[in-house]
Amino acid sequence: MGRLCFSCGAVLGVLAVALLVAPGEALNCTSQKFTNKEVYPNCTDLPHLTANLHWSFNVSNSSLSVAFVAPPAKPGGWVAWAINPTKTGMAGAQALVAFKSNGTVTIQTFDIKSYNFSQSGLKLSYEVWDLSAEESGGTIKIFGKWKLPAKTEKVNQVWQVGPGLSPLGYPMVHAFEAENLAAKAVLQLVGQAAAISPASEPNASAPGPNGSAPGSNGSAPASGAPRGRGELGVGISMAVFMILGSLIA
Ligand SMILES: *[C@@H]1O[C@H](CO)[C@@H](O)[C@H](O)[C@H]1NC(C)=O
Ligand SMILES: *[C@@H]1O[C@H](CO)[C@@H](O)[C@H](O)[C@H]1NC(C)=O
Ligand SMILES: *[C@@H]1O[C@H](CO)[C@@H](O)[C@H](O)[C@H]1NC(C)=O
Ligand SMILES: *[C@@H]1O[C@H](CO)[C@@H](O)[C@H](O)[C@H]1NC(C)=O
Ligand SMILES: *[C@@H]1O[C@H](CO)[C@@H](O)[C@H](O)[C@H]1NC(C)=O
Ligand SMILES: *[C@@H]1O[C@H](CO)[C@@H](O)[C@H](O)[C@H]1NC(C)=O
Ligand SMILES: *[C@@H]1O[C@H](CO)[C@@H](O)[C@H](O)[C@H]1NC(C)=O
Ligand SMILES: *[C@@H]1O[C@H](CO)[C@@H](O)[C@H](O)[C@H]1NC(C)=O
Ligand SMILES: *[C@@H]1O[C@H](CO)[C@@H](O)[C@H](O)[C@H]1NC(C)=O
Repeated sequence: MGRLCFSCGAVLGVLAVALLVAPGEALNCTSQKFTNKEVYPNCTDLPHLTANLHWSFNVSNSSLSVAFVAPPAKPGGWVAWAINPTKTGMAGAQALVAFKSNGTVTIQTFDIKSYNFSQSGLKLSYEVWDLSAEESGGTIKIFGKWKLPAKTEKVNQVWQVGPGLSPLGYPMVHAFEAENLAAKAVLQLVGQAAAISPASEPNASAPGPNGSAPGSNGSAPASGAPRGRGELGVGISMAVFMILGSLIA
């Protein structure tokens, strides 16, 4: 009995990982094309919710232009991309939310205060412009430009997808699956972006008590990486755990 459950757990584990990895291959930075005239030299395949972010950052005036692409949680649902100026999570995030209202995809800004969108303000703490959204092939694209504070080098980004609109026209609360809760990361705008990849984890059994690589003097752009990797690792283990749990239950 115990052996049976053990091997069945292993099979489910492989299945769970496959389920997690598979959707990411459908949509990615290399396969995405845009019809607008914007040029986005940078792109990040986001590690959750099959989303990606194409972007361009002008250091001299701290302007960030983004194109965020994700499939809503259900047809008629919403997608959102946000910058959180103070924290890493949802609360306080300055969000661009796109949804279909009356048959047309529209975009709305939200200063997120709670899961209940009707309690959030509509005015962002950033100046944003050229906002638009479009729907195609089961995904919604959000376009927008952001004026960031001078000398900004990275931002906390948060993204999300939800199932639909409330009767009053507000985005309904999103699911609380591990994928949803893990949908946040640092977006490195200046310098070299740290890879959002758990696979490239350096050797943990590093020599010496302080574990620093010889010669390296902790170059600045790497500073955001360890926390991002840690969160991602936790997110993936949580996802596997939750999928296993739901399959076994
Ligand atoms: C990106 O998507 C294209 C088309 O679906 C596919 O051919 C390519 O292998 C994908 N690349 C990655 C890195 O997933
Ligand atoms: C960045 O912004 C400055 C000031 O508006 C502008 O002169 C410059 O051409 C922009 N750079 C790019 C690459 O668009
Ligand atoms: C910064 O420069 C870019 C590229 O020239 C331009 O599109 C954008 O409007 C500028 N931002 C501001 C806040 O003027
Ligand atoms: C949809 O559009 C119609 C016609 O403009 C309008 O009468 C109706 O109130 C709209 N419904 C919603 C939910 O906005
Ligand atoms: C959201 O907040 C509004 C206004 O405070 C309230 O009327 C509504 O019932 C709340 N919705 C949910 C789902 O809690
Ligand atoms: C953005 O793209 C440019 C051009 O490919 C590249 O030089 C730069 O390093 C990228 N920025 C980040 C943060 O990856
Ligand atoms: C990691 O450490 C192991 C054991 O110390 C070593 O055999 C392996 O080559 C290391 N890998 C890397 C990438 O340094
Ligand atoms: C390790 O780091 C601590 C605190 O930064 C320092 O006091 C200690 O001397 C370091 N040890 C080595 C072997 O570098
Ligand atoms: C490491 O960086 C610090 C601060 O930038 C500097 O004071 C120190 O001399 C550097 N050490 C080496 C070995 O480069």
